[in-house]
Amino acid sequence: MAAGTNSGSPNTDVFHIIATTRAMRRLKAEPVPRELITQIIQAGICAPNGGNAQNWRFLVVEDPIVKATVQAYYRRAFDEVVRPLHLSTPPPPGTSNDEYSRQLSSVEYLTDHIHEAPVWIVPCQDTSSDTRSAGASIYPAVQNMLLAARALGLGATLTTRHLLFQNETEAALGLPSGTHSYAILPIGWPRGRFGPVRRGVTSQVAYLNRWGAPYPSDARPSSETG
Ligand SMILES: Cc1cc2nc3c(=O)[nH]c(=O)nc-3n(C[C@H](O)[C@H](O)[C@H](O)COP(=O)(O)O)c2cc1C
Repeated sequence: MAAGTNSGSPNTDVFHIIATTRAMRRLKAEPVPRELITQIIQAGICAPNGGNAQNWRFLVVEDPIVKATVQAYYRRAFDEVVRPLHLSTPPPPGTSNDEYSRQLSSVEYLTDHIHEAPVWIVPCQDTSSDTRSAGASIYPAVQNMLLAARALGLGATLTTRHLLFQNETEAALGLPSGTHSYAILPIGWPRGRFGPVRRGVTSQVAYLNRWGAPYPSDARPSSETG
């Protein structure tokens, strides 16, 4: 599989990879070479982290029994929380009603098949802290891994739903006491094609100098002006 694309010549331009790294929930069961998983983890550990302490650990899960045990809780969390929430909330910015229902189908597909992804990477940290700071030292690594998987032509999704049953799923994953999981990244060759992410427009989410002050779409960094 060519890097950065499903077919044709690879495009590994960083902005192209960023703009097309979307949740790839429909994955083939065929194995992924171990060296690609290593490459993804190596990209992960290039990420910024507090004090460069590198307290992260990455559990690579291929064991079908472990994956199936976690999947049962992942399914339960979908039925009890995710589906009701989705049905009671409007589509997010940049997403039509049709696209929003397709998103639910895709989310439910992954719910039923997450254990069939050939490999999971579970980013973990030794911490009892549940603060924003704790997540800030692991999620940059997670995003690096998603981008690396995309650049290698592999599909992946950032998932955290298992945390609704944190004790049960972390026991199934065999995490030692004091070590916590921050996500599960199911990884495999994608069934579908990569495409652009759907988002709102910059002017609706960015302000200039003062909260609420419009950010002009042609604004440049101050170092480039004057
Ligand atoms: C904190 C977080 C948790 C997420 N958890 C899940 C999850 O459990 N299951 C899932 O299918 N997608 C999950 N996602 C993926 C989001 O649904 C997805 O990024 C979002 O819908 C935008 O879609 P796109 O990435 O395809 O553009 C999660 C994303 C984030 C940032």
